[in-house]
Amino acid sequence: MFHWLEKNPFFFSVGVFIVIAFAGLIEILPNFAEASRPVQGLKPYTVLELAGKEVYKKDNCMSCHSQMIRPFKSETDRYGQYSLSGEYAYDRPFLWGSKRTGPDLHRVGNYRTTDWHETHMFEPTAVVPSSIMPAYKHHFTNIADIETAYAEAFTVKAVFNTPYDVEGGVKLGTWEEAQKMALAEAKLITADMKNKNVKDAVESGKIPEIVALIAYLNRLK
Ligand code: HEC
Repeated sequence: MFHWLEKNPFFFSVGVFIVIAFAGLIEILPNFAEASRPVQGLKPYTVLELAGKEVYKKDNCMSCHSQMIRPFKSETDRYGQYSLSGEYAYDRPFLWGSKRTGPDLHRVGNYRTTDWHETHMFEPTAVVPSSIMPAYKHHFTNIADIETAYAEAFTVKAVFNTPYDVEGGVKLGTWEEAQKMALAEAKLITADMKNKNVKDAVESGKIPEIVALIAYLNRLK
């Protein structure tokens, strides 16, 4: 019946394309439905965490770190449960990365702590002597951009219906309220930190980048 097709390279190629495209759709489409919905209990990022995510993007941490644990034993042994698509529901953009000069960070909040990050980001070799990760001392003096982070949260709430201000969820509120909440959250983090300048800055109402970044890293679980 299809002998004529085998003798006609053009239509044969079209036929192959249609078959593969259909098979591809069958694989991809389910991800748009069930699996890509937020996993149970997932909450949107707080304004402080978003500001930390901005630092992560700005300093291009994803050029060395992925955020995607693959379903292989070697990975789940090291990093924990493999990543599910629904875990990225509020990541705009997601930061999967494609290169691992350093380890995956998708669940780093499970095994690293605020004070470990503080020492490590200031001078990686202080905790991992053979580390080739650059030091990020400027995070301890640069002030985090809370205003842009608020605008970002406000936008994803308005445009993508990200569930802020829902019962038992993350509160966004007005800009004044958001500033107060970010500061309160920052104080919880500096309580576990040693750097006096960073603590003083937060006491005076300014949030250094390192505090926002640690809020973000702690949230990766
Ligand atoms: C040039 C590549 C490079 C860049 C850029 C980089 N890192 Fe790393 N990172 C590494 C390497 C290598 C390690 C493993 C050694 C170590 O722990 O220091 C690491 C380790 C880490 C760890 C510890 C992970 C673990 O499981 O122990 C964290 C957290 C981390 N990096 C965060 C960051 C953040 C945040 C940034 C961006 C501000 C960043 N890194 C940028 C290379 C990099």
